[in-house]
Amino acid sequence: MRILVTGGAGYIGSHTLLELLGEQHDICVLDNYSNSSPEALSRVRLLTNADFLDVKADIRDDNALMNIFQDFQPEAVIHFAGLKAVGESGKVPLTYYENNIRGSLSLLKAMETVGCRRIVFSSSATVYGEPQYLPYDEAHPCAPTNPYGRTKYFVEEILKDWATSSFKNSAVLLRYFNPAGAHSSGSIGEDPNGIPNNLMPFISQVAVGKRDQLNVFGGDYDTRDGTGLRDYIHVSDLASAHMAAVNYSAAHTGVEAFNIGTGKGATVLEVVKAFEEASALRIPYVISPRRSGDIAASVADPKKAQELLGWKAKLTLNNMCQSAWKWQSQNLEGYGNPPEN
Ligand SMILES: NC(=O)c1ccc[n+]([C@@H]2O[C@H](COP(=O)([O-])OP(=O)(O)OC[C@H]3O[C@@H](n4cnc5c(N)ncnc54)[C@H](O)[C@@H]3O)[C@@H](O)[C@H]2O)c1
Repeated sequence: MRILVTGGAGYIGSHTLLELLGEQHDICVLDNYSNSSPEALSRVRLLTNADFLDVKADIRDDNALMNIFQDFQPEAVIHFAGLKAVGESGKVPLTYYENNIRGSLSLLKAMETVGCRRIVFSSSATVYGEPQYLPYDEAHPCAPTNPYGRTKYFVEEILKDWATSSFKNSAVLLRYFNPAGAHSSGSIGEDPNGIPNNLMPFISQVAVGKRDQLNVFGGDYDTRDGTGLRDYIHVSDLASAHMAAVNYSAAHTGVEAFNIGTGKGATVLEVVKAFEEASALRIPYVISPRRSGDIAASVADPKKAQELLGWKAKLTLNNMCQSAWKWQSQNLEGYGNPPEN
């Protein structure tokens, strides 16, 4: 299948490329490298011994999109491109709405011009907001508590309208829980810009001495040890969920949302302990006050993905820590070159 992958040079996109190329799909990556490096794509080529098109472009650039769609004529789109930092989204909400929502609209318009009918969208567990019950199932009400989460929620709503506007359209919404880890080779992984927002890359940077200690935000939550509990999902499992979603969209029209998680939660201190075991290093940490907007616990009910997509997470928290450590220790400076703008 000809598949356009927006944001394909990013953390989750690059891991998904390995799956797609392994299945011999014809790929075109579109990325503006605002939060990634072309080096990730070079490493994907080395790992797979397969080639694919890549175009440096912004999803908000209608002309560039039109040209790419006319030339490549994709049969499906996997849409990763977007800004993803919850905290930053509160400071520059318009930038988030502009990038994530306008970018998605431009993409859908370009899809329409060439009759491309299938999209798999990177949504997020943040669409649920404060849990009314746990684990979250897909019927849980959506009430995101920050601008980033609202961009995901609004794009989901736009995709629902688009999918119901023609009986040929198909939209698969993947609500990721907490992606972590890296490819088992250690040659691709998460390479955050500046201070990492996510726990695992932060711990990894403490482990290699780039940061002094981990701040654990909140030690008095109603969880096993008082620290926040999340459903960590290995990025390679997440990548394989995209293969399942693409296959599902080839066989089903309409719109469907799926939780992509393991159904198991780990606390911050449990992740620290697992990372210490994987790296044989001690991770210094301090318990700091809670961060506003953080919730105590977030866990997926992943049954629907298992039943309809035939997908289930296979890898463990230990696998996530081992692979994250391998990536970080082999690539002290990540991909090495700062992202372009
Ligand atoms: N990593 C997570 O914790 C997480 C959790 C839930 C959902 N998501 C979503 O999954 C998607 C991928 O996340 P990721 O962790 O791989 O992030 P990432 O930042 O590594 O990848 C996103 C990619 O999109 C590109 N991009 C951003 N804006 C663009 C634009 N306007 N035009 C073209 N390219 C653009 C970036 O350069 C980057 O390569 C995002 O949409 C994110 O919101 C991520």
